[in-house]
Amino acid sequence: MTFEDRLKSVAVDIDATLETYLDAKTSQIEDAMRYAVMGGKKLRGFLVMESCALHNVPREEALKAAAAIECIHAYSLVHDDLPCMDDDDLRRGKPTVHKKWDDATAVLAGDALQSLAFEILGLVDVKAKRRLGAIVSLARASGKDGMVLGQAQDIAAEAAERPLTLDEITNLQSNKTGALILWSAEAGAILGGGDPAPLSRYATALGLAFQIADDILDETGDETKAGKRLHKDEDAGKATFVSLLGLNEAQAKARALVADAIDALSLYDAQADSLRDAANFVISREH
Ligand code: IPE
Ligand code: IPE
Ligand code: MG
Ligand code: MG
Ligand code: MG
Repeated sequence: MTFEDRLKSVAVDIDATLETYLDAKTSQIEDAMRYAVMGGKKLRGFLVMESCALHNVPREEALKAAAAIECIHAYSLVHDDLPCMDDDDLRRGKPTVHKKWDDATAVLAGDALQSLAFEILGLVDVKAKRRLGAIVSLARASGKDGMVLGQAQDIAAEAAERPLTLDEITNLQSNKTGALILWSAEAGAILGGGDPAPLSRYATALGLAFQIADDILDETGDETKAGKRLHKDEDAGKATFVSLLGLNEAQAKARALVADAIDALSLYDAQADSLRDAANFVISREH
C-alpha cells in the first residue's frame, strides 16, 4: 500500500468517527459542520493515530483525539476562507461554507466545530490527568499563543510596511500551521504518558515544511488537484518563504526540514516508518 492509500484509509476511519458526533442532521449549523469537517487529507489526524500507536493508546481512543484535531483544523479553514480573512470560494474541491450558506453560518459552524473538538477530546478514555493534559495543550495550540496568533500575524503581514524577516516568517508559520501539527504529533505521548521530545522535534520541522509546501503549491500548483484557489498569496501580500526566498530556496529549505524531521525519528524502529513517509509526503504532495 502506498502512503497516500494508507492516509486515505485512516481518513475514512476518522470521518466515520466524526459522523457519530454529527449524525443528528437537525440544523443547518450541523449540516455545515459536517460539510466542513468531512474530506481533506486528515494529515493531522493521521499524525495523532501514528503517535498514539507508538505510545500504546487504544485505537478507539486515538480516533477520538484525531477527530478532535480535525474539528479544530476544519474550523480554522472555515474562518480562514471568510471574506474578512482570505476570501476564498473553493475548499476541498467544493464551495466554501460561506459561499454554500452565508457568512453567519460559516462563523457559527466554525465556532461549533471548535466546541465539538473539546467535547470529543474530553471523552477520550485514558487516565484523567492525561486527558486533561491533552485538553489544555490543544487549547494552547489553538488559541492566542498558537494558531489564532499565527492567523493574526498572517493578516497583519499583508499590510506591513516592510517585508517580514526570515525569523518573523518562521515564527508566524510555527504558530499558524505549526502549532496544530505539533500537538498532533505529541498527542500520543500526552495521552499514553510517554516522552514527547522526539516527536516534538519531528513535528516542528514537519510543520514548517508543510507550510512551505503549501506556499509553493500556491505558486506552482494545480487548482483542480489542490481543490482550492491558488496563485493568490503574492497579490494578497502574504508573508511566505516563497515571497522571501524565492521558489528554489524555499524548496531547498523544505527538503532540509524533511531530512531533519526524519532524523528526529532515529530512536524509533520500523514502527515510525509511516511518520517517515508522512515527512516525504508533505513536500511531494500536489494537494
Ligand atoms: C491547509 O491544510 C491549510 C494549511 C494549514 C496550510 P491541509 O493542506 O492539511 O488541508 P486539508 O485538511 O487536506 O484540506
Ligand atoms: C491557513 O493557511 C492556516 C490556517 C487555517 C490555520 P493558508 O491560508 O495558507 O491556507 P490555505 O492556502 O487557504 O489552505
Ligand atoms: Mg490564510
Ligand atoms: Mg487561506
Ligand atoms: Mg496557503
